[in-house]
Amino acid sequence: MLFDIVTIFPDLLASPLQDGILRRALAAGQIDVHLHNIRDYAGDKHKMTDDRPFGGGEGMVMKPEPLASCLDDIQRDTPGHVVLLSPRGKTYDQQQAERLAGYSRLILVCGRYEGVDERFTKLYVDEEISIGDYILTGGELAAMVLIDSITRLLPGVLGCSESAANDTFSHGLLKHPQYTRPRIFEDCEVPAELLTGNHAEISAYRLMQSVRLTIERRPELLAGVTFTDKERKLLARAGLLDDVLRLQNT
Ligand SMILES: C[S@@+](CC[C@H](N)C(=O)[O-])C[C@H]1O[C@@H](n2cnc3c(N)ncnc32)[C@H](O)[C@@H]1O
Repeated sequence: MLFDIVTIFPDLLASPLQDGILRRALAAGQIDVHLHNIRDYAGDKHKMTDDRPFGGGEGMVMKPEPLASCLDDIQRDTPGHVVLLSPRGKTYDQQQAERLAGYSRLILVCGRYEGVDERFTKLYVDEEISIGDYILTGGELAAMVLIDSITRLLPGVLGCSESAANDTFSHGLLKHPQYTRPRIFEDCEVPAELLTGNHAEISAYRLMQSVRLTIERRPELLAGVTFTDKERKLLARAGLLDDVLRLQNT
């Protein structure tokens, strides 16, 4: 998958690509990331990419022409799906990550200042995405959030031991608590259920822990979860079925 990042600060994005799973995915050719500096497409000698807003008001607005030239250049041979990172966009979540992972080329446009000229958005952008209800200084970190979360969903990027299938949100539930060595840490013991060696018992215990956590922290997620008959029996035995059914119907 090819990610193009359109930014006035390409250097900001180098470091997150140099370690961990992203570095490995780049080295293996599973992803490629091209950084494009909008300033290279500014027509004037001062390389201006922003200007004062028509109608007055605070701050500066990103000019449409350098952005448009950059996009035209990038897409000359192969078009891509153009995403503008923007607090006005649809809020990003795991389902959006899974959907975007289906594109072969994503072009991520990073705003700065007060944002970008609306005409550029209308003419060049396929969708606007927000990573949450807060304001960042620019779209670069938001673009990295998309790249990171999408890359780990691509086939072969995660090894079996790192599978995304059991992540929080994959089944609509929060992930169960996890433990590793030592067995006792500052007088706290690992739950006995995890030490039985009985895989069915361990899975059932983990599912109940996931459901408990989801009820406690993100009850609204339960509306989207379907439980099998076997799981419903486990929920009933753990005294959680009534709560789950009530929350699924609210
Ligand atoms: C300071 S913000 C502009 C905020 C704008 N004045 C507003 O009130 O909506 C500059 C840029 O950061 C990026 N940005 C800020 N918050 C974001 C968020 N929550 N999600 C995605 N991008 C964001 C966008 O690209 C935006 O154009």
